[in-house]
Amino acid sequence: MWVNKNKKKILRAVEKFGTPLYIYSEENLLKQIAEYKKAFRGIDVLFCYALKANSNRHLCSLIAGRGFGADVVSGGELRAALSSGFRPEKIIFSGVGKTEEELALALRKNIFFINVESFEELEKLDETASRLGKRADFSIRINPDVDPHTHNYIATGKSGSKFGVDFEEASRMYSWARKRVRLNAVSAHFHLGSQLFSPVPYRKAFKKLLKFVSSLEKSGINLKSLDIGGGWGVKEGLDMGSPAVIAEIIRPYAGKYSFIMEPGRSVTASSGILAARALYRKTSGKRNIVILDAAMNDFIRPSLYGASHPVLNLSGGKGKKVRADIAGPVCESGDFFLKDFKTVLPERGDVLVILSAGAYGYSMSSNYNLRPKPAEVLLKKSGVRLIRKRQSYPEII
Ligand SMILES: Cc1ncc(COP(=O)(O)O)c(C=O)c1O
Repeated sequence: MWVNKNKKKILRAVEKFGTPLYIYSEENLLKQIAEYKKAFRGIDVLFCYALKANSNRHLCSLIAGRGFGADVVSGGELRAALSSGFRPEKIIFSGVGKTEEELALALRKNIFFINVESFEELEKLDETASRLGKRADFSIRINPDVDPHTHNYIATGKSGSKFGVDFEEASRMYSWARKRVRLNAVSAHFHLGSQLFSPVPYRKAFKKLLKFVSSLEKSGINLKSLDIGGGWGVKEGLDMGSPAVIAEIIRPYAGKYSFIMEPGRSVTASSGILAARALYRKTSGKRNIVILDAAMNDFIRPSLYGASHPVLNLSGGKGKKVRADIAGPVCESGDFFLKDFKTVLPERGDVLVILSAGAYGYSMSSNYNLRPKPAEVLLKKSGVRLIRKRQSYPEII
């Protein structure tokens, strides 16, 4: 685990840049990227990193520099991807509610393709492409109705969710698009949800997708590539498991199609931690409560999804263990990192780090309670680099 190995560097970074502080390991990030490449060796696959997991420009540049493309879901992320060095022909644009301005931007930038999520969006894309005199390369996001067995808020591939369209609707959309000169179908897509630890949902959805694509082929619609989404899970406190089990699902079709995969969390989660200091200890009834200087506005996963991220005390923490809640200063009872956590009671000022905060950490942070967003630093072999400044009060007031 890179955190234990880099304890001194982390403590020095905290001294220099203050808390709360997001700290990332370059070495660990590159290791996750290499894992993906190794697992899919021999398959024509483009990894489109899902920027929503972490859109820090410096991290994105590292990822782009290793040949990855990008999956974006807003005009902001599209701009961020381009300015971080992702090549336009490796960028795909997903999301259920793209505005006309966002569709036009994607067309003007000549990105790889737009993942369309409804018939009405396809009509809008056609209209926008005609207005701009551009060809719109598109894919359709299909909802294959497969249960990914994950938290409801991050399950997207079940019937009834707002994402994608069912196979019948997708078939009507591809047929309609065929008659439109501006529309060019290049791919079909599913994304089942996030925090998937088993290849089974991927296998089920892929089987359905193959059946669908071969029925399209019979009617003369030939797609070059298939996009199997992101979602590969990461257990909190660990690196991702090898994605080779997903690669093996698509490998038999490697000669026939090229593939796209859109990993977000699994690329960055284990490479980031959130460092905080213990401010105060108190008791409430029988509970010990430790208040940190980081809160749910900095890292919302425990509050929003009930995610349990390990917390380490890097300042020592020797002595008798007690049970304590680790909470933040925000005025919400839901503002906690761990409940009933067995730990040596931290001293005031101790540095505690929340593990696996590299994905959906900073990118989901907010200014709730008018708290400035934390700074971000990157641990490199050569030292520590500030990769985003802490927000200042004038910026947010
Ligand atoms: C369309 C799409 N692709 C990829 C991802 C990335 O998922 P993950 O970070 O779980 O890999 C998401 C996440 O919500 C998504 O909506």
